[in-house]
Amino acid sequence: MKIIKVKDYKELSRKASSILAGQLILKPKSVLGLATGSTPIGTYEELIRLYNEGVVSFSNVITFNLDEYCGLKSNDINSYCNFMKTKLFNHIDIREENIHIPNGLAKDIQKECEDYEKKIKKFGGIDIQLLGIGRNGHIGFNEPNLKFESKTFLVNLDEDTIKANSRFFNSIEDVPRQAISMGIKTIMSSKKILLLANGEEKAEILYRAIYGDIIPQVPASILQLHPDVTIIVDEKAGSCLK
Ligand code: PGA
Repeated sequence: MKIIKVKDYKELSRKASSILAGQLILKPKSVLGLATGSTPIGTYEELIRLYNEGVVSFSNVITFNLDEYCGLKSNDINSYCNFMKTKLFNHIDIREENIHIPNGLAKDIQKECEDYEKKIKKFGGIDIQLLGIGRNGHIGFNEPNLKFESKTFLVNLDEDTIKANSRFFNSIEDVPRQAISMGIKTIMSSKKILLLANGEEKAEILYRAIYGDIIPQVPASILQLHPDVTIIVDEKAGSCLK
């Protein structure tokens, strides 16, 4: 694991966007694995800036998002589909047909999950997967105590995740209880992984993920076994790291 320590969120976002931009310069047809949540917002803003400056183009880029809530329409303000459009896709030259986000309204969820896996494979796998980390150690919506060997699947969200994500909803009752998420196995199949963590609420779990036992209670700990992981941490999230 390569750990890059930075001062603050701004520097974290700049470094992360530079790594992703480098990937796109070296391989314009890259398959990017993308994440939602507060953490990557600054990275997306920086990528939009680099696009506007002519440094990168997304015209040949393929994307796969980690997850999507079940039961929300794609234009719902809280859907991850809407998040990606407003935070990134509407501002760059990506082609609509190259964007992939699980359909949380699919009638046959099992088939949706299997098809998602097939599509990732069809494009040759994910070149670089961007990740945040949940306060409970989740990556994507791979909540604690689930199987490490899972591929894209239907997940029941953890109480801690529901509470953490309720900040975006009118009330905690409005937070969906289920989601479709890439599994740990899907994430671990990515060629490279870029994990971002900022803020003191991530400090302890980040320490456990990097230096603790590799256990399903801390899903991100599995990343210790991946051959090409880069972690960018700000001072607060890195405060427990030596
Ligand atoms: P956050 O979420 O970026 O909103 O902190 C991270 C995650 O849950 O993966």
